[in-house]
Amino acid sequence: MERRDFIKTGLVTAAAPTLILADIETIKRSRKPMAISTWNHGINANEEAMKVLLSEGSALDAVEAGVKISEADPAIQSVGFGGRPDGDGHVTLDASIMDSKGNAGSVAYLQNIKHPVSVARKVMEETDHVMLVGNGAKNFAISHGFKEENLLTEESRTSWLKWKKNRRKKDDFGPNDDHDTISLLAQDLEGNIAGACTTSGLAFKIPGRVGDSPIIGAGLYVDNEIGAAGATGRGEEVIKVAGSFLVVELMRQGYTPQDACKEALGRTVSRHDGNPKFQIAYIALRKDGAIGAAAIRKGFKYALSSDNQNKLYSVKGIIN
Ligand code: GLY
Repeated sequence: MERRDFIKTGLVTAAAPTLILADIETIKRSRKPMAISTWNHGINANEEAMKVLLSEGSALDAVEAGVKISEADPAIQSVGFGGRPDGDGHVTLDASIMDSKGNAGSVAYLQNIKHPVSVARKVMEETDHVMLVGNGAKNFAISHGFKEENLLTEESRTSWLKWKKNRRKKDDFGPNDDHDTISLLAQDLEGNIAGACTTSGLAFKIPGRVGDSPIIGAGLYVDNEIGAAGATGRGEEVIKVAGSFLVVELMRQGYTPQDACKEALGRTVSRHDGNPKFQIAYIALRKDGAIGAAAIRKGFKYALSSDNQNKLYSVKGIIN
């Protein structure tokens, strides 16, 4: 028998049924809903997620509602509507979502649909697939009632034109990949955990490029028994270490959420001679409500909403 099964059965056989019921009620009542998300815009996303959680909604509904705030905000040029386009001037979106039962859905290289996270949820709930990409994802979205719209704002078009004018022959995107993907993890009153991650990806990327955000285990991972993790930053490097999965597995091994995030980043740092020229950050939420957040470099912030507070926290980089 697995340890987990043992714990479950152990609880059932260890006490009289009335006591068990009372205990479960106490646990439920003492649960504190919470949301943690990446970057400054996580504050507004958390606020929306908490509305859902405090009205006894599910963690899944909360994470979707939360990140939709960022997706709809044209001022956030790294997510959804108003996201910076690829090298050809097309806004292409990646998103993923996971529920507490381990179900997952994602979309990648999706164009002209404002809420990729909701399409990802439809993939999860209405198909037996996990991931749809490109035109397939768009046609699926349209057939499920999503409307096609132009997502390229004048501001993002202007930055694209400027980039085109000044671009180097070999675009390695360098250290300036300041794209603020949102990952949001939430726990509801039942103690269940869900997560969502959504982005327009690297600005002016090579057309067709897909980052970590829609890759289950890279940009996002949820295991309701252990906890959840989400990523932001250089997606290619997150994919190479299956970053969010790694963070959750490290928590399973007993690392605190904070140390799990740091250890996962350490794997990437050591692959780059201790001095990578890019940013990655992870956030983590453990089943007991403990949280962690860490980044390679300074500048990363996360938003934490719990105990009637919704605050932004700065994180020191693990290398500077
Ligand atoms: N982390 C988002 C991306 O690399 O696309």
